[in-house]
Amino acid sequence: MAFYFLSFRALFKKLTVTSYISPFAKIYHKRNVSVGNRFDIKSGSSISGKCFKCEDMVSIGHGCHLFGDISIGSHVRLAPNTCLISDYYGIKKGLIIFSQPGVSKGRIVIGSDVWIGANCVVLSGVEIGNGAVIGAGSVVTKDIPCYAIAVGNPAAPIKYRE
Ligand SMILES: CC(C)(COP(=O)(O)OP(=O)(O)OC[C@H]1O[C@@H](n2cnc3c(N)ncnc32)[C@H](O)[C@@H]1OP(=O)(O)O)[C@@H](O)C(=O)NCCC(=O)NCCS
Repeated sequence: MAFYFLSFRALFKKLTVTSYISPFAKIYHKRNVSVGNRFDIKSGSSISGKCFKCEDMVSIGHGCHLFGDISIGSHVRLAPNTCLISDYYGIKKGLIIFSQPGVSKGRIVIGSDVWIGANCVVLSGVEIGNGAVIGAGSVVTKDIPCYAIAVGNPAAPIKYRE
């Protein structure tokens, strides 16, 4: 187990001893990954793409997939089966979709003290403000203001945390 941890530590830009990485989580491009204290990622999850960074106390639930350019604040929890996807295939007519270069509307930025419910999808270029809550099963296509409780597809605020 110690060897398992040390092998990750050597490869990550930053990984502290208080972190937990499930042996059944996949982390690709480890040099692009930087995490804070008490980072935890559960089984069946993956991180890949050009840049992933997060601050302290970030917890990634089972079966989450984080792809592309992603920045997350501190005290953030992603419930199971949530996907953050900042890159996708080009969809111009005339070229096979999968032969087109990747497209992105930009980095996904998630503030601090954010809870994202189960089975959510957060798309490219979206910013979720500090303190926001995203309801289970939501698809976040646009920015969510700080402290909003947002639900649905597309996700929109229904109220604010008091
Ligand atoms: C977003 C959430 C926190 C809101 O909880 P709440 O403040 O108690 O909200 P309410 O239950 O009072 O719902 C308010 C309205 O939003 C709707 N709503 C709540 N959650 C919703 C969701 N995820 N998607 C769509 N609509 C939702 C309710 O139906 C209700 O609609 P109405 O006013 O027309 O009756 C909660 O519904 C939720 O989705 N929690 C995530 C659970 C989860 O994924 N847990 C994983 C374990 S870590």
